[in-house]
Amino acid sequence: CGIVGYIGQQDTKDILLNGLEKLEYRGYDSAGIATLTDNGVDVFKVKGRIANLREKVGQDDTFATMGIGHTRWATHGAPSEENAHPHQSASGRFTIVHNGVIENYVQLRNEYLANVNLVSETDTEVIVQLIETLNNELNDVTAAFRKAVSLLHGSYAVALIDAEDSETIYVAKNKSPLLVGLGDNFNLVASDSMATLRVTNQYMELHDKEVVIVKRTNVELQQLDGTVVEREPFTAEIDATDTEKGTYPHFMLKEIDEQPFVMRKIIQEYQDENDEIKLDANVRKAMLGADRIYIIAAGTSYHAGLVGKEFIEKIAQIPVEVHVASEFSYNMPLLSEKPLFIFISQSGETADSRSVLVQTKELGHPALTITNVPGSTLSREADYTLHLHAGPEIAVASTKAYTAQIAVLAILAVDTAKAKSLDFSFDPLQELAIVASVMESLTDQKETFEQIAKDFFAETRNAFFIGRSSDYNVVQEAALKLKEISYIQAEGFAGGELKHGTIALIEEGTPVIALATVGNVNLSIRGNVQEVAARGANTCIISMEGLEQEGDTFVLPHVHELLTPLVSVVPMQLLSYYAALHRDCDVDKPRNLAKSVTVE
Ligand code: G6P
Repeated sequence: CGIVGYIGQQDTKDILLNGLEKLEYRGYDSAGIATLTDNGVDVFKVKGRIANLREKVGQDDTFATMGIGHTRWATHGAPSEENAHPHQSASGRFTIVHNGVIENYVQLRNEYLANVNLVSETDTEVIVQLIETLNNELNDVTAAFRKAVSLLHGSYAVALIDAEDSETIYVAKNKSPLLVGLGDNFNLVASDSMATLRVTNQYMELHDKEVVIVKRTNVELQQLDGTVVEREPFTAEIDATDTEKGTYPHFMLKEIDEQPFVMRKIIQEYQDENDEIKLDANVRKAMLGADRIYIIAAGTSYHAGLVGKEFIEKIAQIPVEVHVASEFSYNMPLLSEKPLFIFISQSGETADSRSVLVQTKELGHPALTITNVPGSTLSREADYTLHLHAGPEIAVASTKAYTAQIAVLAILAVDTAKAKSLDFSFDPLQELAIVASVMESLTDQKETFEQIAKDFFAETRNAFFIGRSSDYNVVQEAALKLKEISYIQAEGFAGGELKHGTIALIEEGTPVIALATVGNVNLSIRGNVQEVAARGANTCIISMEGLEQEGDTFVLPHVHELLTPLVSVVPMQLLSYYAALHRDCDVDKPRNLAKSVTVE
């Protein structure tokens, strides 16, 4: 979910709606805003997209200079107008927006709100009713807010307004991301700086269990006991135009096309004046000190982690395990003596990954975060950060962040290998430059991939992607991409494993896309293609120069064997994109998904 808030002199509705549009990637099943006018609080809510909300708000011409807004990714309760935020207290005095999950809301309801008539089943309503109840006792809104926040268990980012006070937005957070944006005669609240970059680039970071009293001309941070905290603001270094689509029909296509630039940017950022790798010496030390590396991630970042494991094991010769974050935190494997945790996360906010970081920090283990958002929670809380430099990724389906993660992992592996004086003749910076050119040649051939997508995915209900060795890592990502945006049931399978059960699903016409970019398994993956073709599958082979055979659907230009995932994934991204377009799906905002999942 995403939150915005504004207090200033301009009409708040537009600022809130623009902010919510920028946060829509965090969830978009329902949305709402509340504004404080001379006649009290106006609440507008809709099911569905911000565009619907804009339409609803458009009919209203009341001027308001303070308000809060929310775009939702449903956790408790179906997406509906009733369950959309903001929520209000019984008297209507307090209005709140909330992101996160309150774990003890049932206890709070029973203990404090037995006499209050609750209108919804949501944990959010409990917070706002609790604040009202406590304020009735304490007669001090700030104290009531602090007390309420101190009673909450779970994750939250909240912004609250009081109908009797046009000067203040009350803000608090725990585990869920939230920032305060600072302006001249106005201040803002936002889940991330992208929401409000058009209005300010100055932000104040908030720590867990702090509350903030946001006024038009000043911002006060307090601990839960009321102690005031001083903190310097920081400058968000994203260019607002990076968050625009420009002439592209979709962010996803723009981001696929940006991959060659991202590769070059990474080369530039990780290269010193002698053309050698430039990397934080502390990261190197942490790598050298580890007897085993645990990569923790979710979704596409997990798939990048699989590729990273190969790099680190093959190049730097350190054993690596890759774990899905949500599994690791509840079922921790036996750890080695000197583990290093690497968190891979585009957003740096994924709650599942963060929960592992909290646990491993408690155990005293070092952590490195590889992320596209340097000021994010996972970056702040880990000991070290490596930045992806991919620029804002807006489309829900991740593309350029995946390739950036792989590129940075390759650099990290080689840096470690060099520090260990391992004999390794592979210059990742040079090889990435070649990758960038090859990526460009692929993104120049969009019509080819559009046609392949039509041929294979136009009508089908399901699809299989197969690969062996490092191709297996990429086909898992390929299947995820297709599922996410075209809703075709897809699976990425190890070529050799297919025959042990899953081959039963192959029917006349089932699409099977095979990657064949790895020399030592070239013949065996082709054998697997024959097996499915013999059972009626509609097969497509994407191979690499030097390994191609007659009849291959597409031959990728040659790149270093270790880096093939960086180029073989590009056709896969484009195939998914065109499959989704062809099936009239909402490419950038697929159903049920959110880009940044800040609940466990
Ligand atoms: C969500 C997104 C995925 C993403 C995953 C991990 O589920 O829909 O596209 O891969 O989160 O996100 P992260 O920001 O941690 O890489």
